[in-house]
This record gives sequence, C-alpha cells and structure tokens, in this order.
Amino acid sequence: MLAEDSETSRRRFHLGVIYTLMGTIGAALGIPAAGYLLVPGSSNRKEEWVEVTNLEKLKAGEPEEIVFRRNRKDGWKILSEKTSAWVTKKPDGQVIAFAPSCTHLGCAFHYDEKHKNFLCPCHTSTFDLEGKPLEGPAPRALDRYQMKIEGGKILLGAVVKSQES
Ligand code: FES
Repeated sequence: MLAEDSETSRRRFHLGVIYTLMGTIGAALGIPAAGYLLVPGSSNRKEEWVEVTNLEKLKAGEPEEIVFRRNRKDGWKILSEKTSAWVTKKPDGQVIAFAPSCTHLGCAFHYDEKHKNFLCPCHTSTFDLEGKPLEGPAPRALDRYQMKIEGGKILLGAVVKSQES
C-alpha cells in the first residue's frame, strides 16, 4: 500500500513537471504569436516615407514613372523592395502619385503620350490623369500613394486603395 502511494505520487510529480514544461513552451511560443496577430500595430507592418524626387524636376501635365527602393518592416524582417510610382504634377501644382499596378488584374500600366492617359497593355483599360477608369475592365480608379512634400522633395508613403467606381 505504501509502495503504491509512493509510485502514485512520483507519477503525479512527473506529470506535473511535464505539464509545467508544456505550459511554459506553449506560453513562450503562443504569447508573442498572439500579440503579433491580435494587437494592432504590433506586427510593425508599417511602411516608411521615401523621398523619390524633387518637385521642380516634374513637368506639369506630364506623368513620370519614378523607380525607387523602399524598406518594409514585416514582423521581424526588414524587406528592401524595388517599386515605382507614376507621379503627375497638375497645372495647379498639385501632385498625385499612382501605384504602378492596374486595378483590374495588376499589370503594369504606362503613360500613353499620344492619348494623354494611362494605358494597361493587358486588357486595354485606360485611366485619365486623375486615375479614373475610362475604358476597359478595370473596376476602380488607380490606387494612390500617400504623398507629402517637404522642402521641395516629394515623399511617398503607403499605397491607399481606391474605392469601387
Ligand atoms: S490588368 Fe489591366 S486591364 Fe486587365
């Protein structure tokens, strides 16, 4: 009887140790993962402002494709990615920066000098200089970068998706 009690308490002790270890490992893995997924902003998935060009280099009414690199923090990684923007300075001085992908299926569009609009070669969607769809299957306007001008320099932030039109 005494040996059986001793065996039972040893078994309980070992089970306690195992459960404690499992709980510790689970907490060590689960708490950061839950924080990453549930707490807004904890993923650090934010993009930085990138200086892309000087305002004075842009000609009014002539969109220019500007290629640049940006760092994007994604969780624990910092990714350096090459991207571009179609930047247009309007005659009134306002500047718009479009993300380079068509809003239909994501092809790279270009500026059609002859027709003074943006043309996507994949399914021939066209967009005016404000990014509004004119023809073709594109369901919404071109997406725009957040943009600010500081000391005559144009800085781009995150891409803001346009609304369905
Ligand atoms: S991807 Fe541009 S029109 Fe289809």
